[in-house]
Amino acid sequence: MPQPLDTPPGDLRTRLAAVGQDHVFHFWPSLSTGQRAELVADLQSLNLAALPDHARIAAKGSAAHVAGRIEPATVIRANEISTKAVERGRELLAKGRVAAFTVAGGQGTRLGFDGPKGAFRISPVKNKSLFQLFAESIVATDRRYGCSTRWYIMTSPANDGETQGYFREHRFFDLPSERVRFFQQGVMPAFDRDGRILLDEPHRIALSPDGHGGSLLALARTGMLADMATHGVEHISYFQVDNPLVYCLDPAFIGLHDLHQSEMSSKTLPKADDLERVGNFVMADGRLAIIEYSDLPETLARAKNPDGSRKFDAGNIAVHLLTRAFAERLTRDAAAFALPWHRAEKKVPHVDLATGKRVEPTQPNGIKLESFVFDALPLAERAILVETSRAEEFSPVKNATGVDSVDTARRDMSRRAARWMESAGITIPRTAAGEPAGVFEISPLVALDAEEFRRRATVRRAIVPGDSVYLD
Ligand code: UTP
Repeated sequence: MPQPLDTPPGDLRTRLAAVGQDHVFHFWPSLSTGQRAELVADLQSLNLAALPDHARIAAKGSAAHVAGRIEPATVIRANEISTKAVERGRELLAKGRVAAFTVAGGQGTRLGFDGPKGAFRISPVKNKSLFQLFAESIVATDRRYGCSTRWYIMTSPANDGETQGYFREHRFFDLPSERVRFFQQGVMPAFDRDGRILLDEPHRIALSPDGHGGSLLALARTGMLADMATHGVEHISYFQVDNPLVYCLDPAFIGLHDLHQSEMSSKTLPKADDLERVGNFVMADGRLAIIEYSDLPETLARAKNPDGSRKFDAGNIAVHLLTRAFAERLTRDAAAFALPWHRAEKKVPHVDLATGKRVEPTQPNGIKLESFVFDALPLAERAILVETSRAEEFSPVKNATGVDSVDTARRDMSRRAARWMESAGITIPRTAAGEPAGVFEISPLVALDAEEFRRRATVRRAIVPGDSVYLD
């Protein structure tokens, strides 16, 4: 028989009191039985052993810091990619050794879309959603290599139901549903500036997803690594939900990663400017690592080589390959594994303890802690960095307008489609500024890259300025 919750469970109260967090029970006397159970469930979802550390980081500053000897990282350039690497990647795909992995648990606050970000319709002609584009890329990969790729999608407690509902509604975009596996990431409490947990409601902790770095533990905790092992998956192709240009399963990248016996590999591209807001790949004390743009000292960000080129020029686009064995090794002792916490000041709506009223802050008032998957890089025994091209593979949808927005992503999809078409000998009218005069979209089901497009494309009519062209 479950005990009626007249008082907070003793061990929970003692543990929270011992670390100065028992204010979370402030409203206990006025809560209903159901609300008490919800509060207890929230508290049980926290890592109580680590709570004092989390509170200290929230109050005093980030645990992540830049230290040691920082040097530029070695990058494998696009022209160094061998046919052997591409063939190895194709072979691994054909054997089903590679799974697609999308992290889609973020809150997407900057975009401000009411729904899971992956359901956002982004393609310039057909208005396909991000999830549809990825699904079609996976279907196309399966057709190309005769494989049955598994797709793992990390959601958060807040968007899991809606995400799964979205896939069901669209019949999984023709993928067999048993090959699409959803799992939820962990959560972290939000703190005030003194490191005290904030309450979202009198009976709820203010919780938010624990960052894409939470994906490693979540893969282990939810049995997804075991699922991969059962299905012979050896490599995990990691990408974010917000980049419609991403190559979800890139044979050249996979092949290089495997030939170098790399545990974790990343794609990189030259930065747009010294202070571009992307992470910087560096060698930190001899190990490949990423320093966030906000943490890289400006002198290093602006440093130049003797020939005038940028010294730290390897930007992060959040495309990685990890071996399953690496993820297993890191998470074998789940209690001991933690990536550094990064601290972000955010506006956190909360209940004021003194008045019991809800506060909707207009300025950042709280601290959220997140871990980042790239902090696993220095833990890899071997790690490689492979160059790619921005125009080909990177245009994230972060904001509703401006930089990295809906408009720039649509523009870049259209530009890429126009380039692929021109490479196949199709004449694309261009404006005086050199922009394609029209809107262009190529379905992933037609081609996954320019080379495949050249082999398969058939365009039956002339393209005139202002056309809207969709090729499927
Ligand atoms: P962002 O850092 O862009 O964050 O996530 P976000 O939450 O999507 O958007 P904002 O900052 O609130 O506007 C980069 C990628 O990492 C995933 C996101 O879904 C996106 O694919 N992510 C982020 C998670 O899966 N979980 C997290 O806790 C955070």
